[in-house]
Amino acid sequence: MQTVTTREMLRTAVDGLRAEGRTLALVPTMGALHEGHLTLVREAKSRADSVAVSIFVNPTQFGPNEDLDAYPRRMAEDSALLEKEGVALLWAPGVAEMYPDGYATNVSVSGVSEGLCGAARPGHFDGVATVVCKLFNQVRPDLALFGEKDWQQLAVIRRMAADLDLVRPHVSAIHGVPTVREADGLALSSRNQYLSPEQRQQAAELPQAMRDAIAALHSGSAVAPTLAAMEAHLLQAGFASVDYATLADAASLVPLDSLSGAPARLLVAARIGGTRLIDNMAV
Ligand code: PAF
Repeated sequence: MQTVTTREMLRTAVDGLRAEGRTLALVPTMGALHEGHLTLVREAKSRADSVAVSIFVNPTQFGPNEDLDAYPRRMAEDSALLEKEGVALLWAPGVAEMYPDGYATNVSVSGVSEGLCGAARPGHFDGVATVVCKLFNQVRPDLALFGEKDWQQLAVIRRMAADLDLVRPHVSAIHGVPTVREADGLALSSRNQYLSPEQRQQAAELPQAMRDAIAALHSGSAVAPTLAAMEAHLLQAGFASVDYATLADAASLVPLDSLSGAPARLLVAARIGGTRLIDNMAV
């Protein structure tokens, strides 16, 4: 695996792979890799000749109340994991390489960025859209892969790439990879490490409450009382609060008050102790 830290080194490495006629898949990450990330890498390997992974803890997607410095950084461990997975290229720029002095451009995606996590984290999706736009331009992959766990992020990136004409020529496809779950259904997340053993047990009620709500919707229950019952289930199970529990159109994320047959998604963010967990499922 080749590790590159400057745009110039990256260009040379990507040109080298391209000269060999290899297709290239990109998996953007902020590091602290877990099984969910490795699943993206394996999926990328099955879809392209070579895989590039970026590790960049992007400061512009952290709000003033979010602790950027506390975000886990484990470059040596991450690099060893990626090497073992057969990744060809690790793109690991520093902040000054990504946002040099004088940097002044921001990509802002309206609509799909605004509700749900966007409402609780102002500016977060601008930071995500900006850095992913830059990563696409820098790496010019054939394919980019993102976890469906961050469904709103995936929707924002799809909108941004379509609107800025990045899907072709730079990226021929953006591929969402289904959420990897623990045996009890809890979605894998780097935030799960902050849960105490008791909270970890309670956290499994999140996917359970969601599955119950989906079953109720399919058997004809109305949306508003179903969502209210799901919220009550979570509070009863020990969650401190529910930031949102929404049924939405899967692509636009516009809230739905009934099922129409178009793809819909149940999206939830809830806090357990000081940890905010998010999850989403197809309905
Ligand atoms: O999901 C993430 O890890 C980040 O938001 C991403 C897509 C790598 C952009 O920094």
